[in-house]
Amino acid sequence: MLREVTATRYLAPLRSGGSVPGVVEADDLGTYVVKFTGSAQGTKALVAEVIVGELARALGLRFPELVLVHFDPAVADSEPHQEVRELHAASAGVNLGMDFLPGARDFTPEVARTFRVDPLEAGRIVWLDALTANVDRTVHSSNLMIWPTLGTVPARLWLIDHGAALVFHHRWDASDPEKAYDFRHHALGHYAPDVRAADAELAPRVTQELLRAVVSEVPDAWLTGFATPDEARASYVDHLHARVRASAAWLPTDFPTREELAAEEALRAARTQQGRPKWLKRVPDLHGKPAAEQDWSVHLG
Ligand SMILES: Nc1ncnc2c1ncn2[C@@H]1O[C@H](COP(=O)(O)OP(=O)(O)O)[C@@H](O)[C@H]1O
Ligand SMILES: [Mg+2]
Repeated sequence: MLREVTATRYLAPLRSGGSVPGVVEADDLGTYVVKFTGSAQGTKALVAEVIVGELARALGLRFPELVLVHFDPAVADSEPHQEVRELHAASAGVNLGMDFLPGARDFTPEVARTFRVDPLEAGRIVWLDALTANVDRTVHSSNLMIWPTLGTVPARLWLIDHGAALVFHHRWDASDPEKAYDFRHHALGHYAPDVRAADAELAPRVTQELLRAVVSEVPDAWLTGFATPDEARASYVDHLHARVRASAAWLPTDFPTREELAAEEALRAARTQQGRPKWLKRVPDLHGKPAAEQDWSVHLG
């Protein structure tokens, strides 16, 4: 069972994420990143956070503890921005909290330049993402952090943010357990992820029993769209169990080579240049991203 805590102090919004989570202190003296039920992503994002996160934990991947956070918007009265205040007002009650990792750094292309990831660990993460159809673990939005970064203990890779996983739950009638997973721009694609080893190791562990235990952690109130919350739970278990048994159909293999990705990127840049008027041709092609995120070479070896 997820622990329950009550937010006692609001520290800050996390604006780097699209859902504007908030950092709070709670009555157990812990600090948590709160994903709000009132966010534009809706409660399905929270369902995905719980199911995929707890599955990751059960399979031995590093993932911060999740808790249920009782949140009274009055606690965040100091928040000056109207749109964030509205988000809080729409989220009174039980929200999802994740243990805050102090000093953690996002796994950006810059960090990836020097951080080594074991091919087996990379394989397990890519495998989990493929199983759970997670579309948000890309080079530009890795939803991976390294921690701890202070002190003497070496930093390790941590998973966060599975709100965009389980894409099939947005259209159950079209959900296909054999659907291929688009992994071309996966954040760990260039660490030679050993997905076959991960499949052999992890697939037998994803039993109906494990899936039932994981799905039972989701609060009833977030399981909408079905006659009963338990009917919704059964649909998640059935789909994920069918999918894990069909891993041969979706197992990502043949990751693009360094040359293929470089050629793809060069082609894209050339097309952008072509479509530009003369006076814009010398402006760097940033595509709305900081320069550091444009340098693919850091992922290539
Ligand atoms: N447990 C955590 N500890 C420390 N920082 C975190 C934690 N979770 C998220 N963050 C920071 O907040 C950002 C946004 O969080 P994320 O869960 O990715 O939300 P979103 O759904 O809005 O993308 C992350 O990129 C990271 O920098
Ligand atoms: Mg995110």
